[in-house]
Amino acid sequence: MTSPSEAAAQRAAFDEYARERRAEVDAALERLLPTSPACPPLIADAMRYTVFAGGKRLRPLLTLAAADSVAADRPWEDREALPAACAVELIHAYSLVHDDLPAMDNDTLRRGKPTAHVVYGEGIAILAGDALLTEAFRVLARGSASETPDRRGRRLRTLERIAAAAGAEGMVGGQVIDLAATGATGAFDEARIRALHGRKTGALIRAAAVAGAIMGGSTDATADAVDRYAAHLGLAFQIVDDILDVEGAQQQIGKTAGKDAEAGKTTYPALFGVNESRRLAARSIADAKAELGAAGIGGRLFEIADWVLGRTR
Ligand code: IPE
Ligand code: IPE
Ligand code: MG
Ligand code: MG
Ligand code: MG
Repeated sequence: MTSPSEAAAQRAAFDEYARERRAEVDAALERLLPTSPACPPLIADAMRYTVFAGGKRLRPLLTLAAADSVAADRPWEDREALPAACAVELIHAYSLVHDDLPAMDNDTLRRGKPTAHVVYGEGIAILAGDALLTEAFRVLARGSASETPDRRGRRLRTLERIAAAAGAEGMVGGQVIDLAATGATGAFDEARIRALHGRKTGALIRAAAVAGAIMGGSTDATADAVDRYAAHLGLAFQIVDDILDVEGAQQQIGKTAGKDAEAGKTTYPALFGVNESRRLAARSIADAKAELGAAGIGGRLFEIADWVLGRTR
């Protein structure tokens, strides 16, 4: 059993780990985002506006934590997962810019600030999303002269995995189902909404974690366990997102509260109510941790799971 003071110390250590890792990710994103005169200043601004708007950086944290937990005894350059972590965050940022567009969720507030299309207009917001997505694959494609053939191979596997998760078989496919499901909640049962959330949110979260495992040099069996963990985690993450839309204060979530119900979105609370949704999220988090336990994976992934369940923004 962990005593309350031990639990508080563990939480503080995790907060410190997350702070350090976020700072690394932010610095790397700052370095790699294009600037004028290599690109027009307007698109550089629009990309930065979205990337540095105050996101939680869950996905890059997952990538780095997964790499850290599988790769303790490899030389650092060989297990470097920071480029993959940045790529995943760039794809996430693009997905939000497009998700907020009038043609999709038509949202005007994100992370407490006006959405990209409100600030830059729809045309530039669409292009900023396109550029963020493209830049992600540029980062993943970039090797170094000293890279080992083994690492190059892992980097390519990572690239393919992230591409599959972002595209029509993953997140984009999920967004398609989300649009079709809007106003059609009645046609959904748990299996269908799990599939919807699994694609629109789960796919990229899984790829983020698996990318870390692959870049860290894990065995296939360990990467598969990380994938199963992240599938449960991704579902819990979107259930909590759905709950926060119902219960969260706008100031806290930085998004327009109550928007899902107003738009007729197919969400867990719409199907099951808030209490049952909370129970299902907790069950998914327990399942996620059980996967780690069964595979003997330690490290920060456990704490990330607790954070996802307890988050208030
Ligand atoms: C919001 O993701 C979109 C969903 C998939 C629910 P996050 O809640 O991770 O967004 P930021 O980056 O922290 O703002
Ligand atoms: C977003 O789901 C999933 C994405 C792929 C961006 P939501 O539409 O619920 O995300 P929020 O609530 O706008 O952040
Ligand atoms: Mg949406
Ligand atoms: Mg949305
Ligand atoms: Mg939402």
